[in-house]
Amino acid sequence: MTFLDLATTRQSDRAFTAQEVRREDLLKCVQAAQLAPSACNSQPWKFVIIDDAELVKQAGTAISNNPLGINKFAETAPVLVAVVEEPAVLMPKIQGKVESNRWAQFDLGSATEHFCLQAAELGLSTCIMGAFNEDALKTLLSVPADRRIFVTLAVGYPSGTARTKVRKELHAIHSFNGYEA
Ligand SMILES: Cc1cc2nc3c(=O)[nH]c(=O)nc-3n(C[C@H](O)[C@H](O)[C@H](O)COP(=O)(O)O)c2cc1C
Repeated sequence: MTFLDLATTRQSDRAFTAQEVRREDLLKCVQAAQLAPSACNSQPWKFVIIDDAELVKQAGTAISNNPLGINKFAETAPVLVAVVEEPAVLMPKIQGKVESNRWAQFDLGSATEHFCLQAAELGLSTCIMGAFNEDALKTLLSVPADRRIFVTLAVGYPSGTARTKVRKELHAIHSFNGYEA
């Protein structure tokens, strides 16, 4: 598979089969996330993987019970993941000059996408979920009070089929040698 094939294969899936997801495969996804770039190589992420059936059920409820009223499908995912933002140690030259790690969200996004792309290569489906009940999930997973859960992921084998990607046109998202409206 070329990289573009893999990027095309990855899609947000919201329905899964009952097939068990192997820890070995989940760890490969974490390994891919580990390789993501980050500001000052600070790696400000932790992936809390939930594959215990009873805990998955409770976490699914904590995710679906969000103010936006979406992500009911989280209750049916075989595996859920909470992506937690960890404190970042930046280069001494930079640390103290920036009020906080303003690159953390970018870093977590990169690592999360590495996770999802590796999952896709293994035939697994993912859906990144930005809407969830953070307090409930933090309590359930014993996430320290001073940490934030950045996003959650549903992981499993897809029960649906591949969709055509809906994207802006290529010309609308790039230009050479200067910004073009
Ligand atoms: C930061 C982020 C948050 C998202 N939150 C949700 C969500 O809460 N629920 C959901 O069903 N999809 C969510 N998505 C998935 C997007 O809807 C999806 O990536 C987008 O529509 C493109 O479709 P594709 O991933 O299938 O290519 C989220 C994606 C990202 C990157």
